[in-house]
Amino acid sequence: MKNYIIPHEWHIIEEGFDPHLNKISESIFSLGNGRMGQRANFEEAYSGETLQGNYVAGVYYPDKTRVGWWKNGYPEYFAKVLNAANWIGIDIKIDDEVLDIAQCAVTNFKRVLNMHDGYLERSFTARLKNGKEVSITATRLCSIVDKEAGAIKYAITPLNFSGDITVTPYIDGDISNADSNYDEKFWEHVAHAEDGNDVYLTLRTKKTGFEVCTGSRFTISGSSAKVINTLREKYVASTTTVQVQQGQQTTVYKYAANVSSQNYAPANLPDACKKVIAEVSAKGFDTMLAEQAAAWHKKWEHSDIVIEGDVKAQQGIRFNIFQLSQTYTGSDDRLNIGPKGFTGEKYGGSTYWDTEAYCVPFYLGTAPQQVTKQLLIYRWKQLDKAIENAAKLGFDKGAALYPMVTMNGEECHNEWEITFEEIHRNGAIAYAIFNYIRFTGDKDYLNDYGLEVLIGIARFWKQRVNWSAAKNQYVMLGVTGPNEYENNVNNNWYTSMLACWCMDYAAECIAYVKATEPDKYMDLVIKTAFNETEETTYWKKISNNMYLGEDKAKGIFLQQDNFLDKEIIPVHDLPAADRPLNQKWSWDRILRSCYIKQADVLQGLYFFSDKFDLDTLRRNYEFYEPLTVHESSLSPCIHAILAAKLGMEEDAYNFYLRTSRLDLDDYNNDTEDGCHITSMAGTWMTVVEGFAGMTVSNDQLHFKPFLPKQWKGYSFNILFRGALINIKVDANGSHLTTDKACEVFVSGKAYKLTTGQTILAE
Ligand code: BGC
Repeated sequence: MKNYIIPHEWHIIEEGFDPHLNKISESIFSLGNGRMGQRANFEEAYSGETLQGNYVAGVYYPDKTRVGWWKNGYPEYFAKVLNAANWIGIDIKIDDEVLDIAQCAVTNFKRVLNMHDGYLERSFTARLKNGKEVSITATRLCSIVDKEAGAIKYAITPLNFSGDITVTPYIDGDISNADSNYDEKFWEHVAHAEDGNDVYLTLRTKKTGFEVCTGSRFTISGSSAKVINTLREKYVASTTTVQVQQGQQTTVYKYAANVSSQNYAPANLPDACKKVIAEVSAKGFDTMLAEQAAAWHKKWEHSDIVIEGDVKAQQGIRFNIFQLSQTYTGSDDRLNIGPKGFTGEKYGGSTYWDTEAYCVPFYLGTAPQQVTKQLLIYRWKQLDKAIENAAKLGFDKGAALYPMVTMNGEECHNEWEITFEEIHRNGAIAYAIFNYIRFTGDKDYLNDYGLEVLIGIARFWKQRVNWSAAKNQYVMLGVTGPNEYENNVNNNWYTSMLACWCMDYAAECIAYVKATEPDKYMDLVIKTAFNETEETTYWKKISNNMYLGEDKAKGIFLQQDNFLDKEIIPVHDLPAADRPLNQKWSWDRILRSCYIKQADVLQGLYFFSDKFDLDTLRRNYEFYEPLTVHESSLSPCIHAILAAKLGMEEDAYNFYLRTSRLDLDDYNNDTEDGCHITSMAGTWMTVVEGFAGMTVSNDQLHFKPFLPKQWKGYSFNILFRGALINIKVDANGSHLTTDKACEVFVSGKAYKLTTGQTILAE
């Protein structure tokens, strides 16, 4: 755990340069706009430890897979969002010495991520080996207004000399992924071009054939010095030498654009790139910055959570919301949310169940309905591939198994215990449809998209179970639950329970679509060769006769068969030196132990909290939480929400702290790989669903708030069915306002809200 980020309500601040923290900071200070994003690498040269990262959403490469022992059914490749051309680079040379802060004395170093206005600023003073001193302030944004553009203002002030400085803004396409399996480079050169001070570089991904044209224009305030362009394979640059005066600032502006063949015909890319560059440079940096701030203020209006009386908690939650908002905007149904977003390469930028189980609630509550709908449509568009994926494993008749890890719908993961067995992900995709409809009321979604997905998923579960003559019940063998610290278990309670729910829910939705849209229903019956009576009867038979393990004496659900044969020793009795287990213990020892990576039975009790009473929840929580090591970032938030439900406020708060500053304080010692973007949605859930107890049932919004004693108050907005509702919880109770008349429930009591009036629920 680190503790170097300076607390501030709206800024993330680092003061002083510590090269050992640089990769962590590169992750934390990342910028993005949903279409592209990048780690906080430096503009000028840097020869120290760094993980270079520029990403263009949806542009990936199928890196040939690496496994120890090949198993039939493994995917051939692991798709990776690629490290793309570096558009931020600006080389600075003073008297033939390159400015590189790994090679010179650095003072006054400061990085600030301004989350309120959406930009990054870095300043420092450098004393070069040649004795020359310069002070630099670099301001950068990844525009959420002009979504293919970014801009940099790079201000240089010579402190102890007047003379020449050579400035070379460049685009470098000769880059690779740090996680490339065979040290292969994934981009090939297509073309380069120049037009005055503008330079363009077009690259194509090998195999997938995505083309991206990256262009840039630069200007230097008050300089008309000659510019020489350099164009070579995978590299374009413009060089100029400016005369600088001691104490006077010289400012370089660099406007850049990334346009991709996902959105333009390849032949049109250079023109499209030129157009974006012309537009943004005509606006100028200051206008771009002002527009960026205005657009961010609008985003914050819907999504902000205000915490009074605890600056670190405030900074933590805003950081999570900021990162989520710059990762996914819902403008393109081909895009999704990689666990690291635009902050690193780990997890390949691919889609996991994290999206449905964790991110969907965040976008439902903070963004227009369409944003979450796009996430659902993404999976609907990949249904054919999910059916193919199931077929590869031996399932048939339209059974769909969504991949554990995917970019285009094909499975990318290749550990048998996860690829073939961690099938609960299929249930999360069905649950997200249910959750979306419960929250928005948009049942039409079923008619056009949702039901087809639900049928495919229900068909899979029907084929994945088998009848056990010994038990006289259906069983589900050979699975991995969310607890990846145990594999190939039988009758994982969470997976079996979720499977039954999926079949019941699919049957319920069939009845709805059939009654309300008979024509669409008939089209679907034909398209999917659906035999309603036979299939739904079978689903019902399974869900009524499924084996769901329980220990009656303890009053708990059994995570899987024989769980109680394990030696049960609570985590707090483990020596601190043994943690984290995944770094300290052999895998064999982990598999045989009772330790749980993340919520498993408790994930089920979270999803279906209205189906279980509080006593059941308490017994399961008190049994499983003490065995849980929370070594997945997705774990603390679910436990915080359940603890809050059980009135265990201190526990809820402690879990909140762990999730909200996970990356800022580098809790798990892995932030240098990138931030835990998908679990950030869990932080939001902790406040909204945990502390404020928000639920939706019977089309109504409910709260059951408590105020953590460490805080004076907290407030947030929820977009619910056309109304923007604000709830502020403080020592006096809950203060509610709305921009549209509506009814909400607080601790079971109904309150009618009207615009312009604040209601206090005590
Ligand atoms: C977790 C999975 C999760 C993945 C990506 C793993 O460590 O166990 O549940 O989907 O990370 O976030």
